[in-house]
Amino acid sequence: MQRTVEAAWLAWYAAMGVDEPIGEAPVDRFAAPPAKTMAPEPIEAAQPTAAARTGAPPIVARGAGAASDAVTAAEACATFEDLVAAIKEFEGCPPRRTATSTVVHDGNPRAPVMLIGEAPGAEEDRRGLPFVGPAGQLLDRMLAAIGLDRAGVLITNSIFWRPPGNRTPTPEEIGQCLPFVERAIALVRPRVLVFVGGIAAKTLLGRPEGITRLRGHWYRYQGHGLEAPIDAIALFHPAYLLRQPAQKREAWRDLLAIRARLDANVSD
Ligand code: URA
Repeated sequence: MQRTVEAAWLAWYAAMGVDEPIGEAPVDRFAAPPAKTMAPEPIEAAQPTAAARTGAPPIVARGAGAASDAVTAAEACATFEDLVAAIKEFEGCPPRRTATSTVVHDGNPRAPVMLIGEAPGAEEDRRGLPFVGPAGQLLDRMLAAIGLDRAGVLITNSIFWRPPGNRTPTPEEIGQCLPFVERAIALVRPRVLVFVGGIAAKTLLGRPEGITRLRGHWYRYQGHGLEAPIDAIALFHPAYLLRQPAQKREAWRDLLAIRARLDANVSD
């Protein structure tokens, strides 16, 4: 009888379009609330993100929960290659369980430009490389327009596993991967950092504004383990540009600004 009821619930969920779980654990809505006299659990102090140190409100908590393991693992890495291995071993980010691949990077870890996107999509998950689907093909054309290719940049993402159904990664998942992303920036130390889309820009700049406000300006990114700040800029995500081609004009301005900054740095 019980099985029949459960099967009926599942069939109803499926008919309503619920095809994936959105929480880490089931929520018992009938459970009694915790007693007021219970002592609060100690919460590990979150280490500040780059943005927290500049006074901007952090969007994601760095170093809380599973992310504290990521902090330890990331900070133990002395080279970019060590970091790639540590990410592949990290089990603290739930989308890893449903993804086919761990998608860490493409391009050249010694390149002067580092791009950070959002999360792998279906094609990236299949091939184990970032930005190889339709958005990635547009990104390649955007880079080519300013004389760059994958040998001249390093490309990574804000999280390393495809979220189920291509949903937006949650702040918790982004926080779990953030120590690795910050360590990657510190190990690569590019001349220019490019945040591709609002998720990467908001996370690494620690700012609440959307991409429309964040793009079009240069920032001084001062993250963990960096002796000097890095010039950073935010770009519209190419997936957004595929849907809104009229915005390519603004993206072109940002690309030209990146080219000019690289040319100026070369002659510094
Ligand atoms: N979108 C991203 O942000 N990253 C990828 O790797 C692919 C699509």
